[in-house]
Amino acid sequence: MSQTPQTIRVGVVGLGMGRHHAEQYRRVPECELVALCDTDELRLKHVAEQMSVTRTWTDPHELFSSGEIDAVSIATPNTTHHPLTMAALEAGLDVLCEKPMAMNTTEAQQMLDAAQSRGRKLAIHFNHRMAASIRYIARFAHKGELGDIYFARAVWHRRRGIPARPSFVHKATAGGGCLIDLGVHMLDQALYVMGFPRVVGVTAKTYRKFDKKLVPDLEMDVEDFAVAMIRFATGAMLEMEISWASHHHHPEQIVLQVYGTEGGALRRTEDYKDLEVSVHRNEHDGLTSSRMVRPPRDMASVQADFINAIREDREPLCNAEHGVRAMQILDAIYESSRTGKEVRMDD
Ligand SMILES: NC(=O)c1ccc[n+]([C@@H]2O[C@H](COP(=O)([O-])OP(=O)(O)OC[C@H]3O[C@@H](n4cnc5c(N)ncnc54)[C@H](O)[C@@H]3O)[C@@H](O)[C@H]2O)c1
Repeated sequence: MSQTPQTIRVGVVGLGMGRHHAEQYRRVPECELVALCDTDELRLKHVAEQMSVTRTWTDPHELFSSGEIDAVSIATPNTTHHPLTMAALEAGLDVLCEKPMAMNTTEAQQMLDAAQSRGRKLAIHFNHRMAASIRYIARFAHKGELGDIYFARAVWHRRRGIPARPSFVHKATAGGGCLIDLGVHMLDQALYVMGFPRVVGVTAKTYRKFDKKLVPDLEMDVEDFAVAMIRFATGAMLEMEISWASHHHHPEQIVLQVYGTEGGALRRTEDYKDLEVSVHRNEHDGLTSSRMVRPPRDMASVQADFINAIREDREPLCNAEHGVRAMQILDAIYESSRTGKEVRMDD
């Protein structure tokens, strides 16, 4: 059996969001950021200089087989998550893959199976779940303080936020639009707070309304608005509303609200800043008391947890099973929107 090295040597592939991965790894004493990779040579050179990383690759496969890294972050466009993760696992590496885990459930399940059969860690970058306010609400819910959770709302609206890049707005390269891009974070947070209940049905509708006005040259073929109702075996429901573009009253708003028999909880952000984090409880006189919560503004890092999961030989907090569950629901949302019917997931 191979021994876990003292210091995990890490590489990052894809240097858009990958720059954030690289910065996070540099804050984790148990690992060393040793390699960067991007097919765009100019971007690679620029980021490598900025981060003082001397080992660089333009071909991820050569990096994977170089023997110079133990673990890798895959932060490339959605369509490459499956092939690059499979190749990295094949090369014996532990992998932290960006969200969405893949283009669809079939790909995601293959990635999970490959990680399990090779005994490698596979984490998914659900970084929004790691916000202190979400962890606070989740702890509150998991301690039973909310009682039985029977309804949750997960909302992310943008007024004018279509990413004007082909890799985001074409189904062939992104898998979907605002739902797979932003909705996957809200879905993950809601499922996490609710304790990942089993899904039995999904009803949804997606819309594309702003492509001609906002990105006329890109021939966008994915949704800019999505609404979904997700039904769980517990009887609970989750409502999701997600947009890249809409006539919303605020330019960028995120809401997670949870209702239980003993209490409720709310996180509301504008421009990514917590505006309100509150918990609401039954009082003995039958009234509801509300308490504002002030969790620290930190965001625990998925990268630190990933490195520690490798060292401690345990599952990462944001693991591949969570990624597959999210993909199953996203697939069902698109299917329900296409057919106009509820997608049953009892089996
Ligand atoms: N978790 C988050 O909060 C968050 C935020 C933004 C983006 N993302 C995700 O990160 C991923 C990348 O998004 P982005 O905004 O950084 O995109 P981007 O286009 O800015 O960057 C992607 C980079 O990957 C490089 N690349 C593409 N194919 C490659 C390959 N085969 N090998 C090596 N490099 C390759 C490109 O040259 C580019 O530099 C997407 O999956 C996106 O959903 C996540």
